[in-house]
Amino acid sequence: MKIAIDGPAGAGKSTIARKVAQELGFVYIDTGAMYRALTWQALQNGINLDDSQALAELAHSLFIHFENNLTQQIFCDDINVTEEIRMPHVTGAVSRVAAHPLVRQIMVKKQQDLASVASIVMDGRDIGECVLPDADYKFFLTASIEKRAYRRIKEMEEKGYLLDYAAIKDEIAARDKMDMEREVGALKVLEDSIIIDTSDLTVDQVLTTIISIIRKG
Ligand code: CDP
Repeated sequence: MKIAIDGPAGAGKSTIARKVAQELGFVYIDTGAMYRALTWQALQNGINLDDSQALAELAHSLFIHFENNLTQQIFCDDINVTEEIRMPHVTGAVSRVAAHPLVRQIMVKKQQDLASVASIVMDGRDIGECVLPDADYKFFLTASIEKRAYRRIKEMEEKGYLLDYAAIKDEIAARDKMDMEREVGALKVLEDSIIIDTSDLTVDQVLTTIISIIRKG
């Protein structure tokens, strides 16, 4: 079974997708983390973020993989980049990297290969449209920008970072705009999307909603 979860930044996709996967005994794949890992490596290598050829070559040669122990860890070749990919300099650059059609073509293929070996829950922006067009369920999680900014601040606070609310709100709005307006793999609601507005729902309520939809078949 394939379950796609798309939606804008901070809508709670990764928290929910991980729990849905746990509940169903499926593998969870965070495609945002994959674009972040690629961006981290591109910044490390000093690649110009407008150079789609260089970025595509890196996407092609880089071995991005997950390891699941107590928590899920992500690696670029043999470097564990789980923490680094959440840093503001990566967050600020990732949508530029993800906008290149050539880069997306390679990343989508990698994601499809990962998805082909198990029942999975995959979250991102273009999963329902490009990566898993035949997914059994396509969820679109959204929430007000205020709630999304607030959640992101809480998440970073738990990691020891104090962020400014207005700045985070602007950053999320800018990233959503880039993600919705790019020519390939844009974030959008599909005809067969099941939309869930999580603004006033707890994580458990969203989880229960999704699981009951899946169990009903
Ligand atoms: O966790 P957050 O909502 O901040 O974003 P993410 O899921 O980690 O994704 C980071 C960025 O990667 C997004 O803003 C998109 O630009 C890009 N992305 C994408 O283009 N396609 C995907 N399938 C997943 C992420």
